[in-house]
Amino acid sequence: MRHETIEKSINLMMVLIVLAISIGGFVELIPLMLSSDATEPDEGIAPYSALRLAGRDVYVREGCYNCHSQMIRPFRSETERYGPYTTAGETVYDRPFQFGSKRTGPDLARVGGRYSDDWQRLHLIDPRALVPESNMPGYPWLAQNMVDPDLITIKLRTLKMLGDPYTDEQIAAASSEVEGKTEMDAVIAYLQELGTNRSARR
Ligand code: HEC
Repeated sequence: MRHETIEKSINLMMVLIVLAISIGGFVELIPLMLSSDATEPDEGIAPYSALRLAGRDVYVREGCYNCHSQMIRPFRSETERYGPYTTAGETVYDRPFQFGSKRTGPDLARVGGRYSDDWQRLHLIDPRALVPESNMPGYPWLAQNMVDPDLITIKLRTLKMLGDPYTDEQIAAASSEVEGKTEMDAVIAYLQELGTNRSARR
C-alpha cells in the first residue's frame, strides 16, 4: 500500500531516489573532508616552485596523464616496482590530481631522480633513441617553447587565493625563476622532483 503511494507520486519518488543516492555519497565524502590526513600536506610537502608549476602545466596540457598515472596503490606488486605508495597528503597541491588509472607507460609518482636531466631531455625529444620498443610520442617542441614569465606570476597569485601558502617573496621572484627557461626545462624540473620531497615513510 505505501509502496503504491510512492509509485504513483513522481515527486515523492524523485525526492526519495535523491535521498537514497546521496547516502552513499555522504558516507564516502564527509569523513574524508573532515580527516586531516586527506586535507593537510604531509611533512616535507610544499607548493610547487614557479618553474615546476610551469612544468606541471605543460604535463597537463600535453596529456601525459593519458598514458601515465601518478598513484602507486598500496599493493606489494606496486610498491616493489615503483616505491612507497601514494598518500592523499602528498597531493594536496595538485590541482587537478594526476592519479589516473591508465598505464600505457609506467607510473611516474616516484620518477624524480631516477634518470639524469640529459636522459629526460633526450627521451622527451625522441623516446625511441633511448628505449627502442617505446610507443611514447616525442615532444621536440618543448625545447623551443619558452615559459611565459608574466603568466606564472598570475598563476601563483591565483593559487595563493585558493589557499596554497606561497609567500610574497616567492610570488615576486616567480617571473625571474622562469625567465629564459624552455618548457622542456620546466617539465624536467617537474619530473625530477616527483616523489622526492615526501618524508621517508612507507
Ligand atoms: C602514448 C602514451 C604515452 C604518452 C602520451 C606519454 N608517455 Fe611517457 N612513456 C610511455 C611508455 C610506453 C613509456 C615506457 C617506455 C619508455 O621509457 O619510453 C614511457 C616512459 C616515460 C618515462 C620514463 C619512466 C620510467 O620510469 O622509466 C617518463 C619520465 C615519461 N614517459 C614522461 C612522459 C611525459 C612527461 C609525457 C608528456 C609530455 C609522456 N611521458 C607522455 C608512454 C607515453
